[in-house]
Amino acid sequence: MEPNIHVIIVGAGIGGLMLATLLEKAGTSYQVLEKSDELKPLGCAVTLSSVGHLFEQLGLRDDLNELSKPFGALHLCKDNMSLVGSFYTRKPGHDVEENYGDYARAVSRPDLVRLLMKQVNPNRVHFSKRVVTTTQDQDQVSVTCNDGTVYSGSILVGADGVYSKVRENMYDELQATNALPWVDSLPLRYGYECAVGVAENLDPERYPVVEERYCEFVACLGKKIPYSWWLIPLTNNRVGWMIVHDIRDRNLTAADKPEWSPVDAIKMCNRTRHFTCPYGGTMGDIIDATPQVSKIMLEDKMVPFGGMGANMAIQSALKLANVIYDIEADSQEDIKRAFDEYFEDRKGDCKGAVNASNYNGAFIHAKGFIANALRHAINWVPNWLVKMGQDKLNSKREQASFLPFVKMRGKFQNTKPTVPSLRRPVHVAKNGPVCL
Ligand SMILES: Cc1cc2nc3c(=O)[nH]c(=O)nc-3n(C[C@H](O)[C@H](O)[C@H](O)COP(=O)(O)OP(=O)(O)OC[C@H]3O[C@@H](n4cnc5c(N)ncnc54)[C@H](O)[C@@H]3O)c2cc1C
Ligand SMILES: *[C@@H]1O[C@H](CO)[C@@H](O)[C@H](O)[C@H]1NC(C)=O
Ligand SMILES: *[C@@H]1O[C@H](CO)[C@@H](O)[C@H](O)[C@H]1NC(C)=O
Ligand SMILES: *[C@@H]1O[C@H](CO)[C@@H](O)[C@H](O)[C@H]1NC(C)=O
Ligand SMILES: *[C@@H]1O[C@H](CO)[C@@H](O)[C@H](O)[C@H]1NC(C)=O
Repeated sequence: MEPNIHVIIVGAGIGGLMLATLLEKAGTSYQVLEKSDELKPLGCAVTLSSVGHLFEQLGLRDDLNELSKPFGALHLCKDNMSLVGSFYTRKPGHDVEENYGDYARAVSRPDLVRLLMKQVNPNRVHFSKRVVTTTQDQDQVSVTCNDGTVYSGSILVGADGVYSKVRENMYDELQATNALPWVDSLPLRYGYECAVGVAENLDPERYPVVEERYCEFVACLGKKIPYSWWLIPLTNNRVGWMIVHDIRDRNLTAADKPEWSPVDAIKMCNRTRHFTCPYGGTMGDIIDATPQVSKIMLEDKMVPFGGMGANMAIQSALKLANVIYDIEADSQEDIKRAFDEYFEDRKGDCKGAVNASNYNGAFIHAKGFIANALRHAINWVPNWLVKMGQDKLNSKREQASFLPFVKMRGKFQNTKPTVPSLRRPVHVAKNGPVCL
């Protein structure tokens, strides 16, 4: 008998929409609740790595390739544009595509959100639904939105971003029974404020970089000012950009409620538009070519370095879809067992990502002689060390356990194979198990 599972997903961001896409394929019932009144084209760019096989399984490999550019390099430079160092993905003898089948892909966040939105049933996505409270009992979980509507289901997934309301409510419940770990009871600190956007219709004569096949990130690091600014060439004569203001010393927490609005985004742009643009001119020229600028606040713990947030969200959504597919009955025990498996699988990677992100944020924004020397060292990272990191990143290229598997590409075949779902008849083909 099919279990009667209904999943409530809070947030139509990248994680929420990827989970909805997978549940749609799995034939599992779901609803998505999003606080915005429509899908807003906000954000700059994310780089997707190690998820190429999943997109292939979903039939989206060609779409993603068309919307994105392969990630070719990261250049660090000073605010006078002198080059500090570069990191390349296409080194002879160590080529990321050759080894792992795909380069990371740089895609605009709005494009990715739109692509995922096309995969889900629009009747199941509800806009203008800001979730405010959550409750649960033996049989179900319910959420209440700011307009008073209530949605109930068997599983609640908080895909509502860094300042998750679902997580906040869960923490309050845990706190009430003293079950909340001490570190989690500390208020989240805002570490960085960023203005982000995608400049469009750039003239290739003036910005030849938009015609390059490979996307080469440029990160400019302020010497005396606590800023870094990033440029990410995208498809269709566009450049994603982000200006990051390091405000870790201000000790701002969510309790300070620093509200931000489109006006704040413009104010931040006004303050920074004189920054030199590595392609010539100033950042003001890039800002002026951007139809919609948004301002986002980042936790000191989670800097979106290399689109880590998006990759983590996609990988978590995938694992979650796999364990939900295997739930046998709509009972608390079965659901708990699924979440235990999810937790065991994800905790190591997630801790590692927070660590790395924290470290990278500090690495980029640290001042002084030693920090400069370390950044220069980016040129001298030996191949074997890069390979070690990349091998680790690719050691678990999970696939959807309920869809036909695709063959792992690249020389590196030391990836732990996904276990096919027990609910599918399986036959073993030459290149591994294949679900029917
Ligand atoms: C506007 C915006 C721009 C971004 N730009 C970039 C960028 O340029 N580069 C980058 O690397 N990362 C960016 N990020 C972060 C990046 O998208 C995430 O780190 C990553 O994709 C993880 O996604 P997520 O699904 O966990 O959350 P998000 O992609 O942040 O999505 C969360 C969703 O939940 C919704 N939501 C929040 N609270 C509630 C609530 N109470 N009820 C209902 N819905 C709610 C939000 O409106 C949002 O749509 C941006 C995020 C946002 C929201
Ligand atoms: C940029 O500044 C550095 C010192 O921080 C200096 O060594 C270098 O020559 C400068 N480059 C240019 C192009 O002005
Ligand atoms: C921020 O907090 C740290 C310790 O938590 C403290 O040392 C520092 O003085 C605080 N800074 C400000 C500006 O309040
Ligand atoms: C930004 O600068 C422009 C031009 O100087 C000015 O007209 C505008 O009012 C400023 N906006 C804000 C929000 O400060
Ligand atoms: C995170 O970083 C700390 C300090 O660098 C290290 O001790 C710890 O093992 C790391 N944790 C993970 C999960 O990588």
